[in-house]
Amino acid sequence: MSEKIIVFDTTLRDGEQSPGASLNINEKLEIAKQLAILGVDVIEAGFPISSPGDFEAVKNVAKNVKGPIICGLARALEKDIDAAYNAVKGSGRPRIHVFLATSNIHMKYKLKKAEDEILKLAAWAVKYAKSRCGDIEFSPEDASRTERDFLHRVVEAVIAAGAATVNIPDTVGYSTPFEFASIIKGIKDNVPNIGKAVISVHCHNDLGLGVSNSLAAVLNGARQVECTINGLGERAGNASLEEIVMAIRTRTDIFKGISTGINTKELYKTSRLVSKLTGMPVQPNKAIIGSNAFAHEAGIHQDGVLKERITYEIMRPEDVGFESSNIVLGKHSGRHAFTERLRKLGFNLNKEQIDKAFGSFKAIADKKKEVFDEDLETIVDEEISKIPEKFHLLHFYIASGDQVKPTAKISLKFEAKEMDASSTGDGPVDACYKAIDKITGTKGSLLDYQIRSVTSGKDALGEVSVKIESKARIVSGRGASTDIIEASIKAYLSAVNKL
Ligand code: KIV
Ligand code: ZN
Repeated sequence: MSEKIIVFDTTLRDGEQSPGASLNINEKLEIAKQLAILGVDVIEAGFPISSPGDFEAVKNVAKNVKGPIICGLARALEKDIDAAYNAVKGSGRPRIHVFLATSNIHMKYKLKKAEDEILKLAAWAVKYAKSRCGDIEFSPEDASRTERDFLHRVVEAVIAAGAATVNIPDTVGYSTPFEFASIIKGIKDNVPNIGKAVISVHCHNDLGLGVSNSLAAVLNGARQVECTINGLGERAGNASLEEIVMAIRTRTDIFKGISTGINTKELYKTSRLVSKLTGMPVQPNKAIIGSNAFAHEAGIHQDGVLKERITYEIMRPEDVGFESSNIVLGKHSGRHAFTERLRKLGFNLNKEQIDKAFGSFKAIADKKKEVFDEDLETIVDEEISKIPEKFHLLHFYIASGDQVKPTAKISLKFEAKEMDASSTGDGPVDACYKAIDKITGTKGSLLDYQIRSVTSGKDALGEVSVKIESKARIVSGRGASTDIIEASIKAYLSAVNKL
């Protein structure tokens, strides 16, 4: 009989704690809906007490996303637990996740409390949360650096108080697979009431071992894994969902009788969506969903794959949602072929959205001979999920070269008015951004600027991602065009419009 691993996705909570990865309420909902399609069992939608915005975002997800359990995080405090409950109670399946640190380091320096106090507080918090919500998870924060006997006592106490899931976090990504496996086994062997709860794990990636530690725990009895899309998360991130899921699916010889409910064909699309909305690009060599994950460069490898795929491929690209197509669209392609291709790529657009995307496709097809699937995805991402534009680009003009001071003139539309400004800069992009700042009154700094080519070829679409900080907020933006200056302007404007 197959045993199912509960996939607990914390992209919207721990993932959003990645520096610069903040998401607005609509973006969180869009990702949560895609996570439900992907088939995750639990969505940790946020930390409701942390800000009014996060409270509203969790509430919005709880109200509008059906299927998965919707979970809110809380410290062991009445006000946190109340906020978490009020945010998730609109879900048909609400959960409160309470955490309290248990390691000597955290108890001594952060909480300034002794073991007995922590034990009592943990049990009280779970009991209080349980009086409000039927489904309670408890995490002894920094569990991997917690003294083992104390960890066992805390786990026993919170289960007795009503926790149905006990989550063992490697909060600082310090553990290693053998050690983490023995922590999980120790809990199984030494906590008398462990049979009444699901053991969960939550591994950070500071030593690059988040996935390995999670998998070692699964082999030793953990039945819930906490993870994030693209491995996003605090510092070096959390264990990556796609890597855990595909390891379990690919190595059935090792994970005997174990499976997840994830629809793996949705992995690539989910990864792209999260990358786009958080502004965190996926490195090309990222396992499972990186653009090079299935690309064979060495001649000997290409030869092998052509003779027999399994010589160098342990998974099929289509199993994780990489769709390859021989059909390349161009400027003579009609709406039917375009719509059909989008449907195959997994986009279900309404008529108005198709009209918009088709318009952009035609404009790009005029500049570019062949429009590939990656181009189409970028066009749709750009056109369809655009946030309302307060400032809209009308025209731009740049002068640049090694003998002239780079200069830009930008015209934007704002509330039906055309507004212009010019500026010089260190380069053409800098000049454009300074001109935009003059028009929009943006005062901030550019934290990150990245450019990538969506496909190969001299006429490829360039996609720019930026991150800007203004008034203590960090927002990201993306833009694409066959002209990289235009892509840079669009990316910056999309971030400014978010602000
Ligand atoms: O890393 C951690 O310990 C956490 C807890 C809140 C589970 O994120
Ligand atoms: Zn964490």
